[in-house]
Amino acid sequence: MKDRQNIHGSWANRWIFILAATGSAVGLGNIWKFPYIAGENGGGAFVLVYLAFILAVGVPIMMAEVLVGRRGRQSPINSMREVAIESEHSPKWALVGWVGALAGFLIFSFYSVVAGWVLAYVAGMANGDFLDIGSEQAGKAFNDLLADPQALVIWHTVFVILVMTVVMGGVNKGLERATRIMMPALFVLLTVLLGYSMTTGSFGAGVDFLFHFDPSELSWDAVLVALGHSFFTLSLGMGAIMAYGSYMPKDASIGGTVLTIAALDTLVALIAGLAIFPIVFANSLDPGAGPGLMFITLPVAFGQMPGGQIFGFLFFVLVALAAWSSAISLMEPAVAWMVERFGLGRGPVCTLLGIVVWMLGLAALSSFNVGSDVALFGMNIFDFLDFITANVMLPLGGLFVAFFTGWVLKQKITEDELDIKEARIYMAWSFSIRYIAPIAVAAIFILNLIEKLG
Ligand code: PFF
Repeated sequence: MKDRQNIHGSWANRWIFILAATGSAVGLGNIWKFPYIAGENGGGAFVLVYLAFILAVGVPIMMAEVLVGRRGRQSPINSMREVAIESEHSPKWALVGWVGALAGFLIFSFYSVVAGWVLAYVAGMANGDFLDIGSEQAGKAFNDLLADPQALVIWHTVFVILVMTVVMGGVNKGLERATRIMMPALFVLLTVLLGYSMTTGSFGAGVDFLFHFDPSELSWDAVLVALGHSFFTLSLGMGAIMAYGSYMPKDASIGGTVLTIAALDTLVALIAGLAIFPIVFANSLDPGAGPGLMFITLPVAFGQMPGGQIFGFLFFVLVALAAWSSAISLMEPAVAWMVERFGLGRGPVCTLLGIVVWMLGLAALSSFNVGSDVALFGMNIFDFLDFITANVMLPLGGLFVAFFTGWVLKQKITEDELDIKEARIYMAWSFSIRYIAPIAVAAIFILNLIEKLG
């Protein structure tokens, strides 16, 4: 087969792919969500299960997504179709791409709301709004923000525009250029903040909380959350990594590249935990505070520490950058598909899709104010969107990708793309993608269902 060309362009080299995919993976999931769900689910044991899922399920599936994308060289919808046809199977496999693109929109809608809070806090920190405030005042400040639809709409709009501007630029002038600037900035900021937390917080208490293993604290629910989070944090199960993989140079090794991305993502989550929990404990705050953890406890802590204003500001800039580089990848699959399907330029496509996600975001942000009475399966719209995407759509998307690459694709294609020299390593990947990943996802779903019904 002659190599397909991607009409959208390709990354300049392997490192740009690693950085771009890490930009997608490292986001609110690492810095906002991971610490608070680890806090809610008891710390250590949860963290261990999450790490196991990353390694046994996340890494093999990420390799699968990259290989399908690179083989198909198109948007996930069209790559799935193309590669299925190449394996003499039904083009209907494109459906997995469709559901993924939908998941991208749904995630974006609540992601953008949280990113909006982050932007509001960047401004608040710069302004010195949190100097010397107590936890009660900080809680009130956060709740006041949530209750103010106008402020939320403004920040959400700013975020949608920031993201769409980058996506509009295309693979090289948009995504790649943003990656080259944002990722080094992100690593520098993270290092500075880790240093800060080591000197000011109760570092030991934070380490103990994250790594202290007590299996009795683990519930089935926590296992599902850990599974869902391993997909969410690696941007798997919706085509983001598949889209990025379709821009990957042919000569780069998929296995090594994916391991690097997963390792960086995990490192950032753990560092974020190590930066946040010591501060939480040093101020006798509650690690199980939920989604407000970052927005209530941290400003209190920063407000009382030497240099807190500047470090607090830097912290929220870091989170904003991470959210920005991730949200770009939430939109890329749908944008690439529309460009392919209708032959339109990125400008009109991004404008149109930007308006769609902007409107979805309004629904998500109304959960905290005018729409707080709306309940879907006992959850508000925001929580429902988070639950249905992270805990249902992404694991199922991942399950289908695993099944597809493990059982449907011609082995020749997987061998060709992965190009793994050592037979044992290829066998290990093949075993996880055919058995471990699908069985783990299916089992956890079924066990959870039984527990909920029983
Ligand atoms: N991985 C991102 C995070 O951890 O914040 C969230 C995400 C981005 C999920 C892109 C899915 C995705 F396709």
